[in-house]
Amino acid sequence: MLWGGRFKEKFNNSALKFSSSLSFDIHLIEEDIQVSKAHAEMLAKINILTKEETEKIINALNLIWVLFKEGTWNPEIEIYEDIHSAIEAKLFELIGDVAGKLHTGRSRNDQIVTDLRLWVKKSSEELITALNNLQTIFLDTAERHIDTVILGYTHLQRAQPVSFAFHLLAYIEMFERDKKRLNFIYNEADFSPLGSGALAGSTLPLDRKFTAEKLGFKSISTNAMDAVSDRDFVADFLNCGVIGMIHLSRLAEELIIWSSSEWNLIKLSDKYTTGSSLMPQKKNPDIAELIRGKTGRVFGNYITMATVLKGLPLSYNRDLQEDKEPLFDSVKTFYDSVLLAGEMIQTMQVNSERFKEELKGDFSFATDLADWLVLQGIPFRDAHHIVGEVVKYCEEKNKKFDYLNLEEFKKIHPIFDISAFEVVNTQNALSRKRTLGSPNPEFVIYEIEKWRIKLSKEN
Ligand code: ARG
Repeated sequence: MLWGGRFKEKFNNSALKFSSSLSFDIHLIEEDIQVSKAHAEMLAKINILTKEETEKIINALNLIWVLFKEGTWNPEIEIYEDIHSAIEAKLFELIGDVAGKLHTGRSRNDQIVTDLRLWVKKSSEELITALNNLQTIFLDTAERHIDTVILGYTHLQRAQPVSFAFHLLAYIEMFERDKKRLNFIYNEADFSPLGSGALAGSTLPLDRKFTAEKLGFKSISTNAMDAVSDRDFVADFLNCGVIGMIHLSRLAEELIIWSSSEWNLIKLSDKYTTGSSLMPQKKNPDIAELIRGKTGRVFGNYITMATVLKGLPLSYNRDLQEDKEPLFDSVKTFYDSVLLAGEMIQTMQVNSERFKEELKGDFSFATDLADWLVLQGIPFRDAHHIVGEVVKYCEEKNKKFDYLNLEEFKKIHPIFDISAFEVVNTQNALSRKRTLGSPNPEFVIYEIEKWRIKLSKEN
């Protein structure tokens, strides 16, 4: 027990069960030990601990880590309030009374948030690496599909032809922004709150810069009240999860529709699909569906944190303990989803021929046809109207653009000539694009090379 002197009665068992955070802050054990070691070394530096005492404490902390890792020590949830009390109790068991000196000048309020900041730094780095790998997988797939023409959609209605590579590159952009957000989180978490005490620092000459440096923080926090009660970096991290999962959920939705028989653009590997217990023919995209479904709880986790924070008076309140479960859950869900999305993309088969025939003379060339008219000197609004009439005519005759003969075209507008047919031809659909950022294969190749270089530098 870390407190108790002023109490006459024992903490109620159900109250302990209700309030214990050990079942989840056990994830912070590595960080907690690291923080305690740095703190002990600092106490030695300012002559509060002797060299011998410090050694004892540090060796015992190292031993606790080893015992935990090998499974010989597993603190019981029913006994301890949190990871800090569990470790301290073990420390007493291993080295006796000298253990009581470790918590000098420290509160669990600054300790927990120091642990948490270290964990957030580590996890944001892991996520950035995972996103880098995901981008590389997308890039490899894109490289194989520079000339795979597919339909691009708006309003889920056929819009204009694009390439599969171009579609995948759009996701690479999203993942890049996810990484930027995570980078921001890393930098925001990179301040050491240790030495802030409960809320007002310490009367002991704690060397905060020393512990910050030992723990690999770039700097120290400035205001102790803010330091112990700030969880902005947690809310920001949860929001990274929200936006990151939005991206993955959109991808999951596309994988689901692309793999339907109606779409027939991809086949997901058996490894990431399941069968039906009733319908023998079924192959269901469960993993993609679960990425989409789990996005909901990641949204919920952000709301949980925001709601916990919104009415809290300064500074530390026990409510803040509620930051951990949403954080751990979102980070794990996001991380696992990134890995599985990558594996699905890596193992799927793409039906490169899917739209080849179907696109011949398709109405998705209508804009290109209007552009052709513009180049003949017709104002765009008129061109739009003329092509609209061509579409109407085709629909009445149940024909596609390229089944019309020149006469029929000319009946709608005399300016049409044989070169208009070139425009509705799949062959040149992409290479005719002129703007930067379009699916012109030349630009797509350039983008792929650019990403290749960028990603190889980051990995
Ligand atoms: N379990 C607590 C948390 O996560 C640790 C800090 C507790 N501080 C306290 N004064 N009870 O926030």
